[in-house]
Amino acid sequence: MIRVLANDGMHASGVDLLKKAGIEVQTQHIEAAALPGELQNFDALVVRSATKVRGPLIDACPNLRFIGRGGVGMDNIDVDYAQNKGIAVYNTPDSSTQSVAELVMGHMYSMARFLYAANRNMPGADAAKFNALKKEYGKGMELRGRTLGIIGCGRIGQALAALAIGAGMKVLPNRRPNNPIVLDLFINGLDPIHIDLPAVEMDELLGQSDFISLNLSFNEGDPPALGPEELKLVRKGVCIVNAARGGAVSEAALLEALDSGQVAHAALDVFEGEPSASAEILNHPRISLSPHIGAATAEAQARIGTEMAGYILQHFGLEVHSN
Ligand code: 3PG
Repeated sequence: MIRVLANDGMHASGVDLLKKAGIEVQTQHIEAAALPGELQNFDALVVRSATKVRGPLIDACPNLRFIGRGGVGMDNIDVDYAQNKGIAVYNTPDSSTQSVAELVMGHMYSMARFLYAANRNMPGADAAKFNALKKEYGKGMELRGRTLGIIGCGRIGQALAALAIGAGMKVLPNRRPNNPIVLDLFINGLDPIHIDLPAVEMDELLGQSDFISLNLSFNEGDPPALGPEELKLVRKGVCIVNAARGGAVSEAALLEALDSGQVAHAALDVFEGEPSASAEILNHPRISLSPHIGAATAEAQARIGTEMAGYILQHFGLEVHSN
């Protein structure tokens, strides 16, 4: 019998499909130290971003035939190393696109209207504090008419562009999307609108954007897309969202830019040193926080589970039995 360890969990949509094909699935998490020993009992390992699958673990498990990343980023897996050992490696690059794009929009609205700060500071407020907060957070802005720079315009960047255009924003990607941006109006019974979005140079993006979102892949050791030099070129008062990877924006440079007023607000879903995050970042009054939940919606996880189960079944040449 094929045994699958879904070490960071798997949506029931995927678990059910695998079980119906006669595969045994364990979704209980095994800590890193115990993994080399425990994995001897499994043919396939499926992870999210929490479990690291590095060379030594791969070496310790010669029976492993399949590694799945339920999600997009493969920075926690030594992909080439595994493939050179004949292990199949799959991810689900498109299943969470919409969820991540919606989270970025949520952070942008939150920054534009001080929602994250109001939620932190309103509990227990008396009338005087209520009025003080109303004054402090009463300096919001609309997204409509603002400019959004998107660094990395792949699947997520394109989905974000569609949402932002729908919200009335001007969108500046730093590279031309491979496909036109599609405004999907299906739910309103209308035809989709295709928009050909030209790219701009990075300097122009940095200098003209009111909001900047990072939607690029990033591996440990890569230079930050927004470091001290880039943050000197941004428009004063810009709002920055990082829902890509910790390190894509230099946290040290970001803190400095927030404190100097160059950056008005930042929103971080991902952190250097994750799952730890620095106290300075976590307690900064002008950073909107979320704990790496870009792909953490019921819809995205259900799609990821089904897609990943499909790859496993295909790889092991199995079919789903209808009871
Ligand atoms: C991804 O790369 O798919 C996202 O960062 C989500 O990661 P997660 O599966 O750990 O939530």
